[in-house]
Amino acid sequence: MLSEKTIQIIKSTVPVLEKHGLDITKRFYQLLFTHHPELLNIFNHANQKQGKQQTALANAVYAAAQYIDKLETIIPVVKQIGHKHRSLGIRAEHYPIVGENLLAAIKDVLGSQATDEILQAWAEAYGVIADAFIGVEAELYEQAEQQEGGWEGFRAFRVDRKVKESDVITSFYLVPQDEEAIAVFEPGQYISVKMEIPGESNTHIRQYSLSDAPGKPYYRISVKREDGQQDQPAGKVSVYLHEQVEQGDVVLLSAPAGDFVLDQKDDRPVVLISGGVGLTPLVSMLHTLVETNPNRQITFIHAAQNGDVHAMREQVEELASQHSQVSVYWCYDKPTDHDRATNVFHKEGYVDMATLQEMVPSKDVSFYFCGPMPFMKALYSNLKEYKIAEADIHFEFFGPAGSL
Ligand SMILES: Cc1cc2nc3c(=O)[nH]c(=O)nc-3n(C[C@H](O)[C@H](O)[C@H](O)COP(=O)(O)OP(=O)(O)OC[C@H]3O[C@@H](n4cnc5c(N)ncnc54)[C@H](O)[C@@H]3O)c2cc1C
Ligand code: HEM
Repeated sequence: MLSEKTIQIIKSTVPVLEKHGLDITKRFYQLLFTHHPELLNIFNHANQKQGKQQTALANAVYAAAQYIDKLETIIPVVKQIGHKHRSLGIRAEHYPIVGENLLAAIKDVLGSQATDEILQAWAEAYGVIADAFIGVEAELYEQAEQQEGGWEGFRAFRVDRKVKESDVITSFYLVPQDEEAIAVFEPGQYISVKMEIPGESNTHIRQYSLSDAPGKPYYRISVKREDGQQDQPAGKVSVYLHEQVEQGDVVLLSAPAGDFVLDQKDDRPVVLISGGVGLTPLVSMLHTLVETNPNRQITFIHAAQNGDVHAMREQVEELASQHSQVSVYWCYDKPTDHDRATNVFHKEGYVDMATLQEMVPSKDVSFYFCGPMPFMKALYSNLKEYKIAEADIHFEFFGPAGSL
């Protein structure tokens, strides 16, 4: 238990730390990776370079500090982060390392403003926050390891099939090398892939949503090749998977994780909306629903630039033709001449209010969506304008969680 005085010190210093947020987090990562270079094998270097992770970790510590006397209210957020940590293999012994380096960074940046009293209060508060994470993650580790077909850490899987889904997206069907059972997952969940890339000094871990229904003898992931642009290097893991990983090769996976999951007890109509490669968790939900709940009405809306990069179209259209519960709707913002000639899409442009008004059967539905950040922001604001209750809006970020 923290003393009332410690709680007051924490609450009164959160704004100061937030003001120097970026400097502290930059310093924090410098210190962390200098003292513990082995952690470079776990953190995503691209997220670091783009500043996404800097903002996520330390800001979460400050946010938690604001709720230091009622941490139970932020447990849902802790769980979401805990899933990511569990899938990356973050363990209790990592927490003191982060704590020490965060405090050292606070001290370095604030200088004499960071009195011993303040540093002591933050050390205690970090300990309480870390314990909340460690507790949540211990449960997640236990679930992942104890469930049938579950496992600890990273397990070797063999690429059974590699299937091109569009010009930029390829699916990998992965079977366990030990030929034992694999854990059932919830549609919407992801696995982490740990990749050793020749010539790279660190391993790279990336998350990929499972794109088929659970209960199959394989896991399917569908990966977009991130080619990069002039000022951006090509994506490390996605390009390596596309170019170098072939049938028969082995990849390392951690057990399924994530709290973006389909509520299968809800029988109301469901609307699954995706942009680009964000379709993967929603395709898993779609396959699951048609296999398990023939009565639930499903609207599947997908936005792609055009037919060349539109993955899994035939697969989804086939499901819709076999199951009258499914309606599909394609929005292309840059259709090709061939798309126009063959009339394969329903709307030219983005998913907008007009799309929702046309496609969504009623306002008493649940929404699940995933896609690029601008797509998610626009959609979220449309759903709010459309007066959809917060509890019916579910989404996943394909990167560190951001704010919509
Ligand atoms: C929960 C979750 C589920 C996901 N599911 C999927 C999925 O189903 N399918 C899928 O394809 N992806 C998915 N992702 C994204 C995936 O994890 C990877 O982020 C993606 O494949 C890119 O990884 P990479 O190693 O190829 O690229 P990275 O090397 O990580 O680079 C990522 C991006 O950053 C840019 N970049 C790299 N370095 C710099 C730099 N120095 N300066 C500026 N820009 C830079 C690159 O150009 C690239 O566009 C998911 C992510 C999450 C969090
Ligand atoms: C109380 C302490 C911690 C807090 C509040 C915290 C918070 C966060 C947050 C908010 C994210 C982003 C989640 C997302 O992707 O949506 C994250 C990711 C991550 N965390 Fe933590 N974290 C803590 C401790 C740790 C520790 C001890 C480690 C291990 C050294 C760690 C390693 C990571 C890694 C590797 C990622 C993913 C990074 C990436 O993909 O770029 N975290 N954490």
